Amino acid sequence: MNSGLVVTIDGPAGTGKSTVARLLAQTLGIHFLDTGAMYRAVALMSIEAGVRPDDASAVSGLLCGELPDFDFEHELPRVQLGSRDVSARIRDDDVTAAVSPVSVHPAVRHRLVELQRAIAARWGSLVTEGRDQGSVVFPDAAVRFYLDAPAETRAQRRVEQLRAEGRRAEFAQVLISICARDRIDSTRADGPLTRPVGAIVVQTAALTLEEVVARLLADVRARATTAGRQ
Ligand code: DC
Repeated sequence: MNSGLVVTIDGPAGTGKSTVARLLAQTLGIHFLDTGAMYRAVALMSIEAGVRPDDASAVSGLLCGELPDFDFEHELPRVQLGSRDVSARIRDDDVTAAVSPVSVHPAVRHRLVELQRAIAARWGSLVTEGRDQGSVVFPDAAVRFYLDAPAETRAQRRVEQLRAEGRRAEFAQVLISICARDRIDSTRADGPLTRPVGAIVVQTAALTLEEVVARLLADVRARATTAGRQ
């Protein structure tokens, strides 16, 4: 099941998209693309260049130079800026705070969407996750999912994830940050977070990670079988 299969997973922060996408890709034997990491890398570039994240032309100008890339040699693909591995740095609080304002700019989105399509063309098959993958980037993907959960559940999961990584996390603060990102991500004009028409919606609050992966896998296999019969 790995020739030309693109599976998209969209949804707000904290629905478990990244982990689910990675496990699903592993089971299917194809690569996983974390598009949020690309926006985070651009946010990091703006921080390091001393450019305000809401300055559209200055942030877009940064993309004339080196672009975020992935090293797919690792099971969990590493995020690269030039020869630098920034996979851990892009999860820091300052990057998280800058990423939604950076991802509003149409020129940034346009460039990263081009890169995402180039990655899909290079590998053929992909599980890709983000906010606009099924709506804008790969509207013809074989299977498109939208994961959702209440903001409080998502904030609690994020707190547990951050603490497991040895980072400090306070529930109220994480909840405020998640709600602020939801608002910016779903109200921007270009590629807003939305449930793609025709996508399979999965509510993850009452499900374990394994149950979500099993559910998605069953849907992918069912679609692949149906497509094979046509
Ligand atoms: O999935 P994440 O939390 O790492 O994403 C970080 C931010 O990147 C998120 O707040 C919105 C933005 N993003 C986006 O605009 N489009 C995508 N396809 C993926 C992420």
